[in-house]
This record gives sequence, C-alpha cells and structure tokens, in this order.
Amino acid sequence: MKSPFDSLQTTVVLGLVLTVVMVLAVMGIADHGVGASLPEGEGGGGGMSIAIFVARWAHVVSGIMWIGLLWYFNFVQVPSMAEIPAELKPAVSKFIAPRALWWFRWAAASTVLFGVILAGAGRYIVDAFALGLTDRGADTSIIGFGIWFALIMAFNVWFIIWPNQKKALGIVTATDDEKKKAARMAFLASRTNLMLSLPMLFAMLGMRHFAEFIS
Ligand code: HEM
Repeated sequence: MKSPFDSLQTTVVLGLVLTVVMVLAVMGIADHGVGASLPEGEGGGGGMSIAIFVARWAHVVSGIMWIGLLWYFNFVQVPSMAEIPAELKPAVSKFIAPRALWWFRWAAASTVLFGVILAGAGRYIVDAFALGLTDRGADTSIIGFGIWFALIMAFNVWFIIWPNQKKALGIVTATDDEKKKAARMAFLASRTNLMLSLPMLFAMLGMRHFAEFIS
C-alpha cells in the first residue's frame, strides 16, 4: 500500500504542517503566555519577535542535520568502512558518502547563516566575537566561544573536509597517494570537529541556560 511517507519531500512537508497545527492548538489552549510551571519571564513572548524565534528554530534544525551527520560519519561510517569487504566499499564511497556530504556542508552553511542572524538580531554579536571581554558578560562570553568553535568547524567542513573528500572519493581525479593523504586530512578534520562539537553545543545552550550560574 502506498503511503505519504514513501516520499521524503511529503514527509518533511507533513512535519512542517504538524508544527503549524501544534502552534494553533497551543494558541487555542493558552489564555496567557506563561504557565504555572514556568518561572516568570521564561518561555513566554518576552518581546522576542516571532521572526527571530523562527530563525532560532531553523538554526537548531540545520544544526541537528549538520552535527547529526558529523556524528554519523564518526560513530557509524568511518568505523564500518574498516570492516566492509572491499567489493562493497563503493556502495558507501560512490552513493552514500557524496549524498551525506551534500547535506552536511549545506546544513553547516545554513546553521552559520541563521546563527549569525540570531547574534546580530540580539545585538550582542560584537561582544560575542570578543568572547565577552568587552562587556564582561558570562552570556556573551560563552556564546562567543560557541560561535568561534562552530565557525572553525564550518571552515573545516567547507575548506578541509570537502576538498579532501572530493579527492578521496574520486569525485575529482587524484593519484592513489594523493587519495590516501586526502582521506587522512579529511579524517583528522572530522575528528577535530567531533571534539569541538561537545563544548560548542554546551556553549550554544549555555548562553540562555548556564551563564546565569556564573554571573
Ligand atoms: C557558526 C555557527 C553558529 C553560530 C554563529 C551560532 C550562533 C548561535 C547564537 C547566536 C545562539 C543564541 C541565540 C539566541 O538565543 O539569541 C545560538 C543558540 C543555539 N545554537 Fe547555535 N550557532 C552556531 C552553530 C550551532 C550548531 C552547529 C548547533 C548544533 C545543533 C547549534 C545549536 C544551537 C542551539 C541548540 C542553541 C540554543 C537555542 C536556545 O537556547 O534558545 N548552533 N547559536
């Protein structure tokens, strides 16, 4: 039997529609912004514009796609490659990896775009880039570290991992020796990003949910 879930696009559209239905349901249920279980000022409108909230949602959705694939590469694909018989390896290198890398690098670009929009809209972008040394705030300091770590990661994706993977996967021509070196470079950059992803995510959440414990 055919199902709407047979189509990837339809499934994503259904997810978006469900999001809208959920928001309408909440609007129907709630008669004020903040419920009894949330402290004053938390979770409510708080003057935050809807557009910024949608940008924050798009930022986290893109970030999950990006970091999800980074963790897939490190926790699933790379360890499996060592065990996959030689005749089956092309299934990964010719079909799975190029598609995964497409989503990986564009998700990284989208995450950076929405992240910079958020920091700009919040008017703390300069203090964040200065790691909070300008305003001495724990919030701008921690998000600053997160932004710098994430920017290093995005640089690695676009300028180290992708060009080297193109050689390693045979998307551009390279000698066997060049392919081996390229695969090693891409691997080390990917491992660097895996390491950075942990403090980066701590910092992303930390601006709103951790900085208060320090200041
Ligand atoms: C260079 C890339 C990035 C930049 C410039 C950036 C920027 C930001 C900024 C400015 C915020 C604070 C938004 C606000 O509440 O005002 C934020 C929050 C957040 N970011 Fe990023 N970010 C980047 C990468 C990532 C990545 C890769 C992820 C992975 C999922 C991520 C996940 C989050 C999450 C979960 C929040 C918390 C939202 C909240 O608590 O309301 N970010 N990011």
